[in-house]
Amino acid sequence: MHLTNVSKRILRCLTILSLNTAFLQASTPGKLRCEARANPAGIDVTTPRLSWILQSAERGARQSAYQVLVASSSAKLAKDQGDLWDSGKVESADTFNIAYAGSPLVSENRCYWKVRTWDGTGKPSAWSAPASWFMGLLKPSEWQGQWIGWDAPRAAAEAARSPDAKAVNKDSLFLPPPVQVRTGFQVDKQVQRATLHAAALGLTDIYLNGKRVSDDSFTSGWTDYHQRVYARSYDVTGMLRQGDNALGAVIADGWFSGHVLNARDGYGKNPRVQVQLHVEYADGSSTVVATGPAWKSAVGALQEADLLMGETYDARAETGKWREPGFDDHTWAGVSVGSPLNPTVHAHPGEPVRAIAEFKAKTITQPSPGVYILDLGQNFAGVGRLTLKGTPGQKVAMRYGERLKPDGTLYTGNLRDARVTDTYICRGGGLIETWQPRFTYHGFRFIELTGLTHKPDADTVVGVALGTDMARAGSFSCSDPMLNQLSNAIYWTLRSNYMDVPTDCPQRSERLGWTADAMISMRAATFNTDVQAFFTKWLVDIADAQGKNGQFAPTAPSRVGIFNSPGWEDAGVICPWTIYATYGDRRALESAYPGMVRFIDYCEKRFGPGLVPPADLQIMDDWLNVSAGTPKDVFCMAYFAHSTKLLETAAEALGKREDAVKFHALFERIKAAFNHEYVTDDGRIQGGELKPGAKAPTRAGDGVVEDARLKGGLQTRYVLAIAFGLLDADKQKLAGEHLVKAIEERDWHLSTGIHGTKELMNALTKIGRNDVAFRLLHNDTYPSWGFFLKSGGTTLWERWNGSLPEADPSMNSFNHYAFCAVYQWMVENIGGIRSDGPAYKKILIAPQIDPNLTHAETRYDSIRGRIETRWSKEDQQLSLSVTIPPNTTADVFVPAVENSVVTEGGRPAGMAEGVKFLRRESGAGVYAVQSGHYEFSSSCIP
Ligand code: BGC
Repeated sequence: MHLTNVSKRILRCLTILSLNTAFLQASTPGKLRCEARANPAGIDVTTPRLSWILQSAERGARQSAYQVLVASSSAKLAKDQGDLWDSGKVESADTFNIAYAGSPLVSENRCYWKVRTWDGTGKPSAWSAPASWFMGLLKPSEWQGQWIGWDAPRAAAEAARSPDAKAVNKDSLFLPPPVQVRTGFQVDKQVQRATLHAAALGLTDIYLNGKRVSDDSFTSGWTDYHQRVYARSYDVTGMLRQGDNALGAVIADGWFSGHVLNARDGYGKNPRVQVQLHVEYADGSSTVVATGPAWKSAVGALQEADLLMGETYDARAETGKWREPGFDDHTWAGVSVGSPLNPTVHAHPGEPVRAIAEFKAKTITQPSPGVYILDLGQNFAGVGRLTLKGTPGQKVAMRYGERLKPDGTLYTGNLRDARVTDTYICRGGGLIETWQPRFTYHGFRFIELTGLTHKPDADTVVGVALGTDMARAGSFSCSDPMLNQLSNAIYWTLRSNYMDVPTDCPQRSERLGWTADAMISMRAATFNTDVQAFFTKWLVDIADAQGKNGQFAPTAPSRVGIFNSPGWEDAGVICPWTIYATYGDRRALESAYPGMVRFIDYCEKRFGPGLVPPADLQIMDDWLNVSAGTPKDVFCMAYFAHSTKLLETAAEALGKREDAVKFHALFERIKAAFNHEYVTDDGRIQGGELKPGAKAPTRAGDGVVEDARLKGGLQTRYVLAIAFGLLDADKQKLAGEHLVKAIEERDWHLSTGIHGTKELMNALTKIGRNDVAFRLLHNDTYPSWGFFLKSGGTTLWERWNGSLPEADPSMNSFNHYAFCAVYQWMVENIGGIRSDGPAYKKILIAPQIDPNLTHAETRYDSIRGRIETRWSKEDQQLSLSVTIPPNTTADVFVPAVENSVVTEGGRPAGMAEGVKFLRRESGAGVYAVQSGHYEFSSSCIP
């Protein structure tokens, strides 16, 4: 269909109208959340923070007051009785961080809540729809459940193990079977409510009367089990029945004792579970059913279950209805009770892992007889769900990979030791059997299917994507299909790697919480999904992994020890700051703050009085750069300076004035030392000498193989100095020129690794060279984002050269999220959406009109509500529509040759309602706007 300009405008107006109507109808507060989650079950924060979102198309809409009601039952809430808390009318524009201040909350309290607000004219809204949360077990003493498991099967497997099978070897893996534990119990009175709590040193699925108590996966996540373990809580009132009941659990190794990196048994040999069911009766009495010595155990159909290696399930060995009431378990063994580890049990602060999407095969090929390859069209993390009619004992295997070999068979050369195979042994008997592995996941786009007796179709195996279940928080689309593809690839790369902890990759036998990668892509992630609760959890992992001397570990939970890792360690400062800056989460910053201070104190000591790094300091540098390592001293000083600056800002935000002054002074000293040591009069940056004999890389990998001063890796040194504010204006100008020259010397390509790339585009914007940034963004030759896509990537890769023959297969993930950082730049520059200060109270809308595009639409659901920009240009006409949530204001930069050509809603912009002309800057008219929706246009684009 060919639309004229006029009809396009009409269409746009209609869309906006319908958008506005939707806003008008939704003027009551919405999206209620408690501790950054929707209706969380089982929290242990006793003054949980509540938040909501206001939406209104009205200009200048704001909240002048709110009232929160929290009730102990939904019936009371419906009658407007806040028996737990009635905040009364509070004069405030705050819509988040509203700390509960009602009656003290105790374990298992059910809390139902709603909120209403008053607008700027004093008019009240309707009450919001109700939301809820409930409390988990608050005191360790309330846990009556004991850690149980069953150690005999592992001991037997170990005894039977051949002595030469000690190393990880895909063909002779040591994979002791998961165990099942169960108990029966009676319910003979009317049940008022029932609450179940479960924690695992390992992974568990809990069953009550035959059904899984939730659709969560990987309960209860990964922590440093020496220090803490998390519990999940569930309201299971509706799952009980009168008479016989059955409670059971499957216990698998998971991160606790299964394979992680290149070893197993990282925290212990025998996984454990702790379960407690509290049944409260209508007559006021109650009972607790909890794990303990009376439980029974057995091995069932699940014969192997390992996160990296995969599962094996023999449906013929299904132990009948062991999860059902009345099952006769007298032949079952007893349980092993207790654990050498004695971590404290807390409520899990983040969302659980769940199935987040499904993919069906787009093509099915048969590269050799009986071997089928399913192409699901998208690389992601998860498992296959198999459905078939088989014969008894028929063995069907699903093996997973990210790419194919040239002959069409599965490529697994980049998976290191991960076996990534799930095997199902059919029960047979004419039944349709469906099976989905529960305690493993893989990173894949292709599934190799063997053992079938018929050709599979698109329903035989469905790809189930798993990931921490977070709400989508934004989108980007524009006229260039390549950038749309890039934004989809970024979305899936991030989703694949948020699996209770942020992981470097989902496919090979590594999958660690490498801190640099997570820190680098974190801000981009905030624009894709709501990561606040997820990172609240991970900030604790980072803190748990901090060394006694203050040094942060390069992975969290810590799995490779602590070694000098500037650019990784700094996650301990950058990540809490980012959570505060994005979500205004003061508590997260406050609790991380002491650790941040200890880290900077440690860095200061490490560098000594001159504040320059010792010449023999062994570190990794700009990881996976394109033969362009950065001098290590420049690299680590740049990060030291950056973290110090952020700490100063954090101290300021927390009102710690003295600290702020102290860290400001330290930053200035580092900056002076940096300039003195490395910056020449003509704005060049030169690294210091490496001491002869100093070994470059501290671990295997090829990110740091060369001495950059000799071979000229130039870009990152300028990028970091510019982005981290280490140069005064005159030097920055000169350094900027050197940077652009270094890009030109690479034929207008980047040569940066994960650290440099994160800041490269920001640095170019900072020096006013978006023209160069656009060029890099649209490149599709090596190395570039476009090259990933042109080479068949549907997620972003670990290495720029991933598809080239020289790429080391043992470190060549096709689903690595550090290069996703560019999405932040896209949202903030092409979309033009930035926060001016923390948490989007004041917003900057300054879209950069990429000459390669004719339109772009960017949406971001900020902590204060939806921010949206759409711009299009046609025959030198620019249209820019902007939506800003209530309680915020924005400065909007409308590109225009002169101010007189800028209109809003068809009127000269300066005269439009809610719009005030401020100034002219950088080829744009700058207008202050109140919240609401605006339609700017300008007749010329400079
Ligand atoms: C990981 C990276 C990580 C690096 C640091 C790699 O194996 O995949 O993402 O940052 O090691 O050593």
